[in-house]
Amino acid sequence: MCGIVGSLGSFNAKEVVLKGLERLEYRGYDSAGLALLQENKITVFKDTGRVKNLISITPEVESHIGIGHTRWATHGKVTQSNSHPHYSMNERFILVHNGVIENSRELKESRLSAYNFRTETDSEVVAYLIEYYFNKYNNVNDAIRKTMSLIDGSYALVIIDTEDHHKLYAAKNKSPLLVGVSAEGYIVGSDIMPLLDHCKQFIPLEDGSLVEMGMNGDFSIAIYDVIGKERDYELHDIVVNTSDIGKGAYEHYMLKEIDEQASVVRRIISEYFKDDKLVLDDKVQKVFDGRDRIYILAAGTSAHAGYVAKGYFEKIAGIPTEVHISSEFIYNTPALTQNPLFIYISQSGETADSRACLVKTKEMGYPSLTITNVATSTLARESDAYVDIFAGPEIAVASTKAYVASLSVLLILANYFGKSDMNLKQELSKAAGIMDDIINKKEVVNKLAKEMLTKRNAFFIGRGFDYYIAMEAALKLKEISYIQAEGFAAGELKHGTIALIEEDTPVSAIITNKEINLNTRSNLSEVESRGAKTMVISMKSLSRPSDQIIIDDVDPMVAPMVAIIPCQLLAYYGAIIQGNDVDKPRNLAKSVTVE
Ligand code: AGP
Repeated sequence: MCGIVGSLGSFNAKEVVLKGLERLEYRGYDSAGLALLQENKITVFKDTGRVKNLISITPEVESHIGIGHTRWATHGKVTQSNSHPHYSMNERFILVHNGVIENSRELKESRLSAYNFRTETDSEVVAYLIEYYFNKYNNVNDAIRKTMSLIDGSYALVIIDTEDHHKLYAAKNKSPLLVGVSAEGYIVGSDIMPLLDHCKQFIPLEDGSLVEMGMNGDFSIAIYDVIGKERDYELHDIVVNTSDIGKGAYEHYMLKEIDEQASVVRRIISEYFKDDKLVLDDKVQKVFDGRDRIYILAAGTSAHAGYVAKGYFEKIAGIPTEVHISSEFIYNTPALTQNPLFIYISQSGETADSRACLVKTKEMGYPSLTITNVATSTLARESDAYVDIFAGPEIAVASTKAYVASLSVLLILANYFGKSDMNLKQELSKAAGIMDDIINKKEVVNKLAKEMLTKRNAFFIGRGFDYYIAMEAALKLKEISYIQAEGFAAGELKHGTIALIEEDTPVSAIITNKEINLNTRSNLSEVESRGAKTMVISMKSLSRPSDQIIIDDVDPMVAPMVAIIPCQLLAYYGAIIQGNDVDKPRNLAKSVTVE
């Protein structure tokens, strides 16, 4: 959701910004723009559509300074004028912004009523305020900090003063922003991706930070809080490799990431098992001590992993567990127990809804643990402890390997704090082998997708863990194929939803649990009797010859990681059939950084 790049240094800013924007494309956006120095004047180029359009309208310029933006519209339509960068009223300042300025309308009316605005955006108000206060204080740093003190909401900003081409400013509150540091200069980015070619180290920014970067002779950087007090900062090593973020021979990132799942599980085994013994950080042990209930907070696919994890923690570790969607929990917080532990599951570690919950539960004094794929993310940094899922960069908007990796790590956690009869290491390795088998037979799923996905809707059903897999299967299908799909508890269908079943309505059942498999089979017969076209994904020992996808047996706790894979492939081929942009589905963003 909105991507930002800023560049100041001896590298070619045009290349850094455009390449950085391409690397941020996966976050989701609808327009793109940049500002560069052209013939001693900072010039803006922007348009709706993809970064490749922006590349085609950007002239050949050698610039040592630049800012760029991919916009995911929140305030104002998708138009060229609403695209970033934005000018201040007399064009003294140019900025790009990610986030939402909640009081932009009030600020326009109370302080900027004398000015005409060129766009419908909240971001332009920030540019105007900076110039307005610059005219009063005659100091850029003071003007930006004053503006920061007035605006409510979330922002990551990169700002150019058009009268000083050797300075770049960045400010951050709630929205993610990092500063890459190298001997050649500085690169600011919404995440690590735009930094990779030039920087080996970066500075994560705290909320309420203003960064002033300079290249007058020597390179210089200083970070201030809103009051103007200089902040200390730490340099972190960048561990992501550019080779991890390529598509290789694959046509789509999503298929590459589906294919990588077995190796991700093997990596997790090697990271968390030392001589067959599970090893976790002491900090993780500490957050679990004395806790009487776990509250899992997450969104989307990560929340679906949370529902399965509830079963892990309750069945294996005996800890009562609740799962809440972050965007609901923050405003409808339930009654809590005396000693809760909050577990945040987030692939990106940046989801604004979950971050808002973390701020709240920290203020309440409760311990927190984040399960994430991005060790440098806000949630990882701000929680008391975090556990890495080691999935490697996930670029496709539809999350696949991060779901399976989160489940693996959550199962490891439950086993670490509980007891089960299963040989976890062995079961996880077995699961990795089965994942490879399913992936090697992906053409079977491709054929099934053509047969099954012929309608505007589709249903997935299951019971217990299979119900949670059904929910995730439905989310995958709808987000990339745009087919209206729902995951249901199989037994609940007849309480209303079965009314939607008509001739050839696709219904897929997931059957991995011995105790309830016959109940699900009965529910399947009920929809078949009403004309549904059915498909069954079953565990071998529970299968029937007519089942379309039969998976080798694994422990029922591991089954969700394996059974989801044909569903991911079904969604992938469904999107191909529809001719959709698989990796960048419409309206969606990878990193949902606004509430
Ligand atoms: C999954 O395919 C989606 N892209 C989405 O539901 C995602 O899981 C959700 O936005 C949460 O993201 P997070 O894991 O980065 O917090």
